[in-house]
Amino acid sequence: MSLAGSTAIYPGSFDPLTLGHDDIVRRALRLADRVLIAVAETSTHVKRPAFSLEERVSLITEVYADEPGVEVVPFSGLLVDFAARHGARVIIRGLRAVSDFEYEFQMALMNRSLSPEIEVIFMAPASNYTFLSSSLVREVAALGGDVSPYVPHIVLERLARRYGGAPDG
Ligand code: PNS
Repeated sequence: MSLAGSTAIYPGSFDPLTLGHDDIVRRALRLADRVLIAVAETSTHVKRPAFSLEERVSLITEVYADEPGVEVVPFSGLLVDFAARHGARVIIRGLRAVSDFEYEFQMALMNRSLSPEIEVIFMAPASNYTFLSSSLVREVAALGGDVSPYVPHIVLERLARRYGGAPDG
């Protein structure tokens, strides 16, 4: 299967989008012509989400305002149905460490079982982002720590507004 001319879906809750996510988006753009960032509701086990779905979609849209290959769309329901509605057969997921593997592998096989034409591609982020997660960024930001090395500047500004404090630079 060639990815030329195709749309790859990059799903997640992105609460918030980190530089690790951004690294994966840019790698995915090397493979596919269009990357559709599918922003999901935060799962119910997230006790204190940083941003609502609407806020996350508008924030991520702003981050990729100058990137014509990237589109940002909210989604609910099954990911495979979302993919079918958008004529996409490729789903991208970032794989940071062995700890991600079991959950990601289960999801990939369930998605394939639900929709055999879907292919899931796992991509490794730059090694300096392998420890990064949205939940850690939320926690550090909420406790007043500096998250400027981990998120795009627009996200940093919005986190500062959400939790107080001013972004540097
Ligand atoms: O990166 P995240 O926040 O863990 O994203 C998880 C997400 C949103 C990709 C996953 O929960 C998902 O695909 N949800 C949609 C519902 C669905 O299709 N569930 C079955 C997947 S096996």
